Amino acid sequence: MLVIDRIIPLREQLSAWRQSGQSIALVPTMGNLHAGHLSLVEMAKEFADRIVVTIFVNPVQFVAGEDYDSYPRTIDQDQEMLAASGTDILFHPPEEEIYPENSQNQTIITVPSLDSIFCGKSRPGHFAGVATVVAKLFNAIQPDVAIFGEKDYQQLLVIKQLVRDLCMSVRIIEAPTVRESDGLAMSSRNVYLNSGERTIAPRLFQVLSRMKEEIINGNRAYMEMEQQAMAELDQAGFATEYVAIRAAENLAEAGTGDLVVLAAACLGKARLIDNVVIRR
Ligand code: PAJ
Repeated sequence: MLVIDRIIPLREQLSAWRQSGQSIALVPTMGNLHAGHLSLVEMAKEFADRIVVTIFVNPVQFVAGEDYDSYPRTIDQDQEMLAASGTDILFHPPEEEIYPENSQNQTIITVPSLDSIFCGKSRPGHFAGVATVVAKLFNAIQPDVAIFGEKDYQQLLVIKQLVRDLCMSVRIIEAPTVRESDGLAMSSRNVYLNSGERTIAPRLFQVLSRMKEEIINGNRAYMEMEQQAMAELDQAGFATEYVAIRAAENLAEAGTGDLVVLAAACLGKARLIDNVVIRR
């Protein structure tokens, strides 16, 4: 595995591969890798000849007061995991390579409507930060495909809209959420849970799974279900931000198409998000 920290040598290597007819997959991450991230690398192998994984803790997507400084950084361990995973390039740039002009004073991409609801509402500017860094990575790498996790469902929709709106040619592939054995969605932020909180945390997925079952069984009292779920999570010790049943395609009001049940809830220092999709 090549470890590269600058865009120019990255482009040189990628163009050599492209000239010999090889396709390129990108898996963007912020590091502190777990089995969820590695499942994206596995999936990338199905779609391209060469895999680039990026590790960059993107300052612009952290809102004031969030955990940018304390976000877990485990580059040596991540590098070992990626070398064993069949990744071809780890791109791990310093901040000035991605934001040479000072991140406060540069082009920002906003994806309207999606960026002001749910996680966008409680984290103003977050999705603009994500869209901006992902566009930069797409431009630097020009991958044929890029893999994103369904775990961050709203982010996935933001990226799909970014690609559509800006006529980018990259194909976006979505990967299913990888969970701990008790159902908790794997996340770099799970390290913030203390042992008591860790035993409560799987309740989030249990509640979402039960809602999914009820919807499949014909319950259409969506608002009641959402309110009941929030009360139940609060009762269990979460500070629930939202639980919402929405159209899977664009988070509009639930209709007759596929649905997604989305939730965000804080448990101690950890802000957990999760979702379940109902295809019909
Ligand atoms: P990060 O949280 O490191 O996640 C990187 C990718 O891994 C995202 O596509 C995310 O959805 C996926 N992922 C995380 N946990 C997962 C799980 N349990 N199962 C499956 N996939 C999972 O998301 C980001 O970084 C950043 O916002 C980024 C897109 C890199 C832009 O900075």
